[in-house]
Amino acid sequence: MAPPASSYNSVTSLILVLCTLIVISCASNFNQEFDITWGGSRAQVLNNGQLLKLSLDRGSGSGFQSKNEYLFGKIDMQLKLVPGNSAGTVTAYYVCEAHYGPTHDEIDFEFLGNLSGDPYTLHTNIFTQGKGNREQQFRLWFDPTINFHTYTILWNPRHVIYMVDGIPIRDFKNLESRGIAFPKNQPMRIYSSLWDAEDWATRGGLIKTDWSQAPFIASYQNFIADACTWSFGTSTCASGDATSEERMRWVQKNYMIYNYCTDMKRFPQGVPPECSVA
Ligand SMILES: *[C@@H]1O[C@H](CO)[C@@H](O)[C@H](O)[C@H]1NC(C)=O
Repeated sequence: MAPPASSYNSVTSLILVLCTLIVISCASNFNQEFDITWGGSRAQVLNNGQLLKLSLDRGSGSGFQSKNEYLFGKIDMQLKLVPGNSAGTVTAYYVCEAHYGPTHDEIDFEFLGNLSGDPYTLHTNIFTQGKGNREQQFRLWFDPTINFHTYTILWNPRHVIYMVDGIPIRDFKNLESRGIAFPKNQPMRIYSSLWDAEDWATRGGLIKTDWSQAPFIASYQNFIADACTWSFGTSTCASGDATSEERMRWVQKNYMIYNYCTDMKRFPQGVPPECSVA
């Protein structure tokens, strides 16, 4: 399925020459790759940099960001989400243009907690040149609080592919030829945060965060960036597409619970143009 690298166009090649391939074949060290940016000691790097934990209590949430900026790449992170009654908590994991402004690009995974025994919602969105409103939501086919699972953003000049345990769940194609902006000029950083969003995440505040369960903890391990870091040397960046159309269709058919592309109430004048391109 994967078209050869030679199909990259020349503009893309030029961009690619501006960045360096950093292949990190084993899990890298959180101390070396990330800064804790929010929440003080609520965020902790443990086990010699192999494990990172974010926590949320009544006082605050916590968060971290990558030291590097990336332009294209395959970025894997393993997460184990807040267990038990996690309703109202949101674990956000995303890459975003570092100088957040009106034309920012952003690729989001957000995990909306739920009452014990009820499923998480995996919420996704993608902003290009400041335009978002492209939400798709999924259920997961496993309990994401028991073990670590791998969440991947594969970002190359032709696609942004979201993957869960190697299975593609969403494919945002480069449709610049149809006038739809694609993130390809602005390097992005990796961000994650654990925060309280009971007003938003639980159907408009229907269910309140149960603070007696605090602190809420989400854990991270095995960060692997097969990516280009911005501002160094040269290279080809993240290789190949991992799309398997068939597997993606399976997820979308069985686990997708919201798709902006089919939300006619929200877009009475017609759904956004990328939705009508097969
Ligand atoms: C929580 O679970 C209920 C019951 O399955 C579901 O309707 C709801 O959408 C879930 N909420 C979130 C935030 O995932």
